[in-house]
Amino acid sequence: MTPPVREILIDRKRIDARIAELAEEIRSVYGGQPVVLVSILKGGFIFLADLCRALGMDVEIGFLALSSYQGETERQSKIQESNLALPDLTGRHVLIVEDILDRGPSLAHAIRRCQSENPQSLRTCVLLVKEGVERIEYPPVDFTGFTIPNVFVVGYGLDYRERYRQLPFIAVPELD
Ligand code: IMP
Ligand code: MG
Repeated sequence: MTPPVREILIDRKRIDARIAELAEEIRSVYGGQPVVLVSILKGGFIFLADLCRALGMDVEIGFLALSSYQGETERQSKIQESNLALPDLTGRHVLIVEDILDRGPSLAHAIRRCQSENPQSLRTCVLLVKEGVERIEYPPVDFTGFTIPNVFVVGYGLDYRERYRQLPFIAVPELD
């Protein structure tokens, strides 16, 4: 499969190097305490797989499947939650692992969902934070992989119409 890639924004080497740095930051914050990593599906699965192995920590894995759909106006964005595979988060250290922060509702929803179980702590780790976006919600990001311009990207878990998630890099696709 040859994807219609206009530009590779972040190649595999840079992703790997940044994940190693993030893992170091995260380890130093938790200092050996066990953590529940909550990945937001579908986009977060590849980042989670690489991050959890780089961490080398005592972790449990949970999944929260979210999909967003646009309301009738630009500013309405509803989040649908399904297919829950979350361990009990009460009293746990929880780290949400997300692929990208765009307009904000997905991560904001995940934070509210996890917070409702009264974790001992709740933090967020986002691989890509888009700059110059008009946010609807402003969820806090504790660990950021990369900040990128306001462009649509695919690869490393991120899709365009469910394709290209498997690409080992982050790219701007050629869309017609
Ligand atoms: P939100 O607008 O921050 O709630 O982001 C919603 C979701 O849209 C993200 O979790 C991604 O799954 C998806 N998304 C946002 N920007 C992109 C992109 O550039 N490429 C692919 N998916 C994206
Ligand atoms: Mg996502």
